[in-house]
Amino acid sequence: MSNQKVIVITGASSGIGLAVAKYLADKDFLVYGISRSAIDDPRIRHKKADVTKLDELISVYQEIFDETKRIDGLINNAGMGISGSIEATSPEDADYMMKVNFMGVYYSIKAMLPHLRASKPAKIINISSVAGKLAIPFQGFYSSSKAAINAFSESLKIELKPFGIQVCAVMPGDIKTGFTKNRRKNKEELELYQKRVERSIAVMEKDEQNGMNPLVAAKAIHRLLKRRKLPLYKTIGFQYKLFIFLQRLLPTKWVNNLVGSIYGFNKE
Ligand SMILES: NC(=O)c1ccc[n+]([C@@H]2O[C@H](COP(=O)([O-])OP(=O)(O)OC[C@H]3O[C@@H](n4cnc5c(N)ncnc54)[C@H](OP(=O)(O)O)[C@@H]3O)[C@@H](O)[C@H]2O)c1
Repeated sequence: MSNQKVIVITGASSGIGLAVAKYLADKDFLVYGISRSAIDDPRIRHKKADVTKLDELISVYQEIFDETKRIDGLINNAGMGISGSIEATSPEDADYMMKVNFMGVYYSIKAMLPHLRASKPAKIINISSVAGKLAIPFQGFYSSSKAAINAFSESLKIELKPFGIQVCAVMPGDIKTGFTKNRRKNKEELELYQKRVERSIAVMEKDEQNGMNPLVAAKAIHRLLKRRKLPLYKTIGFQYKLFIFLQRLLPTKWVNNLVGSIYGFNKE
């Protein structure tokens, strides 16, 4: 068995996943990237799979383990967003987003655990979001999917401790990626929400497009992989660390008002 550490990352064809995959490959990890579309980089071994399909993940993770005989880390990064009022969100869009962002992480972990146990010590890094702790208006389903990832990571950490598998939920702040373009907006927003939705989406899109370089996330995740012990949570971005710190200290009502004011609702 080679000494080179093997990392599998979902959603490695774009944005944060691609930046992490390239950075880790340059740091001498053997990197497998999972996505539906191709990854045009010879440093990354691409395996095509959809995270909403458990059978596809079981099959590609088995292939990877057969090739490498070890898997040192799984980074569950594949994800997408939807926006608009909760009331006007179609059940199909809500269902699909939860399937990618939450069930996709569950399927990925379920399919990979036998291989991680066989390779221990191993690490699981779940890409959550600051929105998982500070829920954003008109991104209710997205925020809920990331809050679910946080709770899932907390349970999993305790369950997997005896097997030498550590778990961390990474919460990035705004990062400039394809996420903004790929976000699904409500097809038919209700008139009574329209103005507030537009204002809120304008703020979030501006924040994302002025956001951090994905390399910041890549470096933070590389540092996590090098650590002996993983923290349960890792926030990425100075101002977001401050938000999370304040969220822990301040009364919930104040925090909720603060989030409202960031999205321009204090002017009403
Ligand atoms: N950008 C931000 O500001 C930000 C902030 C906090 C957290 N995050 C989180 O970071 C993660 C990565 O987002 P990003 O910003 O890098 O977005 P992105 O540029 O849109 O990349 C999303 C990645 O997920 C993959 N993906 C989506 N659906 C998939 C599916 N069904 N099966 C397999 N792969 C799938 C895409 O690959 P294919 O389309 O090729 O399958 C792509 O590689 C997400 O979990 C997101 O929630 C992002």
